Amino acid sequence: MDKFIVQGPTPLHGTISVSGSKNAALPLMAAALLTDEICIIDNIPRLQDIRTFSGVIRGTGTDVTFDEASNRLVIDAGTLTKAEAPYDLVRKMRASFYMLGALAGRCGQAKVSLPGGCAWGPRPVDLHLKGLEAMGYEIRQEAGYIFLKGPDTLPPSSFKLQPSSVGATVNLVLAAVLRSEEFTLHHAAMEPDVVQLCEALQQMGADIEGVGTSVLRIRKVDRLNGLQFANAPDRIEAGTYLLAGIMHPESSITVQNFRLSEMGTFMEELQKTGVFLSMEALSDAPGHFRNLDSVTITAPSKLNAVSVNTEIYPGFPTDLQAQWATVMTQAAGQSHVCDTIYMDRFSYVPELARLGADVRVERDRVLIQGPKTLNGASVMSTDLRASVSLVMAAMMAKGSSDVLRVYHLDRGYEELEVKLNQIGARIERVSE
Ligand code: UD1
Repeated sequence: MDKFIVQGPTPLHGTISVSGSKNAALPLMAAALLTDEICIIDNIPRLQDIRTFSGVIRGTGTDVTFDEASNRLVIDAGTLTKAEAPYDLVRKMRASFYMLGALAGRCGQAKVSLPGGCAWGPRPVDLHLKGLEAMGYEIRQEAGYIFLKGPDTLPPSSFKLQPSSVGATVNLVLAAVLRSEEFTLHHAAMEPDVVQLCEALQQMGADIEGVGTSVLRIRKVDRLNGLQFANAPDRIEAGTYLLAGIMHPESSITVQNFRLSEMGTFMEELQKTGVFLSMEALSDAPGHFRNLDSVTITAPSKLNAVSVNTEIYPGFPTDLQAQWATVMTQAAGQSHVCDTIYMDRFSYVPELARLGADVRVERDRVLIQGPKTLNGASVMSTDLRASVSLVMAAMMAKGSSDVLRVYHLDRGYEELEVKLNQIGARIERVSE
């Protein structure tokens, strides 16, 4: 198991580039199972979760080639023979549950393991299952597995997600496009990851109305074509770097190759902290990435304390709340971070306190009093976003910190320490 040894405090200077989005890539990979033609997806990050999900997909007999040097994934599901996703693979990554919708759509049947627990509390899949039943699929649960079956054509139906869910929206869209006469999904997730999935499916020939809104209407088509697609940049990675770039008062960095249009209200909240921002639209690379931006962010001498509440898109993302709370330990005054999506996603808080931060959890929020000088210590990561926030805190802490169990980071951030070291961080990866 690797750990990071981080020396701080280090101001950051230079340019850092955002990789392709993991959370946007996984639904695209699942969509590739809906066609027997070849799908080529570019800008896929070199991450453990992508390799794990590739393994899950290969288990169906599908051919998956991940050319990591070029970040290109080629999926050929023409050879798919087995409508199954076993426990030993699904338990490693919850998003493997997308296999349920994909196999339902492609095969009209599936045997998929229920995902296991999660480091930040209960993450149910009841809405995925209720939605599939409402669509007309028969669902049976036995020995930790979901057994699903349905006819070639499902009658018109509708379902309302309450609360809105990214994962359930993805699964229901995948299950509907080849089978439902007409399926209306109310309160659908509007996250860019869902929009991208729908756009890719439209390119493949799917009939989906209302893309980008909270009501999706899907009518079945008989078959889908192959796909050539450039995956979106990772908006959470972009947000993480923008935040890392304001923790030290002497930092000024440029974060490039992401889409400002996909950041929701995050940029407005960021501006309230008193940072200096200069934004530039990058010219489109031919035939490849479109609408990419570059933002130069300069830390103010004194950061304002700003409270945020997480909300569904376009609200402040839950996947950036740990990083925000970490930055607020350096802001002048009191602030809070309230997570309305995952109410107990605060495992990083006691670890921040070990570094000297004045932070505590009260019900669904973290209360932060800043500014506080952080001092190096050993801290333990408990999930992906908690891990990165501890690395950020360690970069601000005086002296040396050990951030343990960084395998979480390898699941979600492409070459994090390499990129941060290029802009002035001092992070060493050590195998224990
Ligand atoms: C996805 C992201 C994750 C992000 C989250 C919220 C991926 C692989 N993961 O997770 O990084 O933090 O969106 O933006 O893309 N819920 C139910 N029943 C269900 C499903 C969800 O009650 O069947 C609830 C959840 O407990 C949560 C809320 O709905 O409170 C939103 O969860 P959801 O959008 O489904 O998150 P994921 O898709 O799992």
